[in-house]
Amino acid sequence: MWRTGAAVVGTGFIGVVHVEALRRLGVNVTGVVGSSPGRARQKPDLPDPYESFEAMLDDDRVRVVHLTTPNHLHYEQVKAVLHSGKHVVCEKPLALTSEESGELLRIADASGLVHCTNYNQRFYPLLHEARERVRRGDIGRVWNAHGAYVQDWLHQPTDWNWRLDPELGGSLRAVADIGTHWFDLTGWITGRRVTEVFADLYTVHPVRHVPSGPVETYADPGAIQRHDRQMETEDIAHVLLRYEDGTRAQVVISQVSAGRKNHLSFEIDGSDGALAWNSERHEELWLGHRDRPNEQLIRDPALMSSPVRGDYPGGHAEGFTDTFKQLYRAVYRAVQAGAMPAEPDFPTFADGHEEILLCDAIAESARTGGWVAVPR
Ligand SMILES: NC(=O)c1ccc[n+]([C@@H]2O[C@H](COP(=O)([O-])OP(=O)(O)OC[C@H]3O[C@@H](n4cnc5c(N)ncnc54)[C@H](O)[C@@H]3O)[C@@H](O)[C@H]2O)c1
Repeated sequence: MWRTGAAVVGTGFIGVVHVEALRRLGVNVTGVVGSSPGRARQKPDLPDPYESFEAMLDDDRVRVVHLTTPNHLHYEQVKAVLHSGKHVVCEKPLALTSEESGELLRIADASGLVHCTNYNQRFYPLLHEARERVRRGDIGRVWNAHGAYVQDWLHQPTDWNWRLDPELGGSLRAVADIGTHWFDLTGWITGRRVTEVFADLYTVHPVRHVPSGPVETYADPGAIQRHDRQMETEDIAHVLLRYEDGTRAQVVISQVSAGRKNHLSFEIDGSDGALAWNSERHEELWLGHRDRPNEQLIRDPALMSSPVRGDYPGGHAEGFTDTFKQLYRAVYRAVQAGAMPAEPDFPTFADGHEEILLCDAIAESARTGGWVAVPR
């Protein structure tokens, strides 16, 4: 079943994670595409690179293409993959604008091919469990969600990455890069859509000191030539959200929070209880009660009722890279069936487009200083 051929485009941080997850499922990764074959060859654990993106599309063994390139490349690459008749998994954010993401959704739907936006965090098993518990009414009527997605890798004004260039990363940065994971997760777990947002964006470092040329890994930071560059995107965002049924939410998003390497957390409050989780303690789900002591559910397939419970017994931690494996298991079931399921059990381009619509509303709210309806 799993001998399907797949290719991965982009060989950076997350491209390597895609390849590894696919191999663990027994998917045949026929090759990768890097910014150049020479660069891709520098990663010894990856399969051989194709000479070009086009050469990869011409390979009939490839049925699924994973796009893990910088954000500005997603739109053209997704279109090319779909036009070649191959299924597609695209990293988030799906595109730079909602015009682009809306068009990609229309093309994907019309193609009959399988499409996925890589919101992998849904596939922490305890988050499937949280969703199951909300759906069956364990916490009663949901009325509030609050939390954060905070990191520290852009804490210093000398920290630099292509994401800081709006041409490559998009006009919203922290919100699109990590905030959309939070919106996707909480919307998916509660089963609710956001209707309005109120956002405040803050650029802590209006000027960053950007390396003037390529930087060798582990280069002496003092020896790197730099020039100043004005920043146009936010380091921090505070966002209030209203959902279609009146549920409220609030989230803090930051890429400059010292000590927080990759901390996504949320709490969901309802009339009969609450649920809380954070990615630094991802094998624990907190269950809050008003009338009895609170509980801590440690991930254990034997104690869970969700469709995804993890592959290993309780106490054998499954982390970030496992979420990719669990996600692709669902995606490749659809690939084997040859079409999108009637009710997809993975995030699709519809979810990817939804996130870009939210980004539009957040940007507009930050500009106007008021509540903005999500433009659907
Ligand atoms: N789902 C997640 O948890 C997650 C985590 C990190 C990144 N991402 C997303 O993945 C994407 C890549 O992020 P990253 O952190 O891996 O970036 P990265 O800079 O580490 O890697 C990007 C790769 O793309 C390659 N590339 C550039 N231009 C190319 C081209 N024209 N053709 C082929 N390859 C090209 C680069 O050489 C590099 O190997 C982004 O969209 C990002 O938002 C998602």
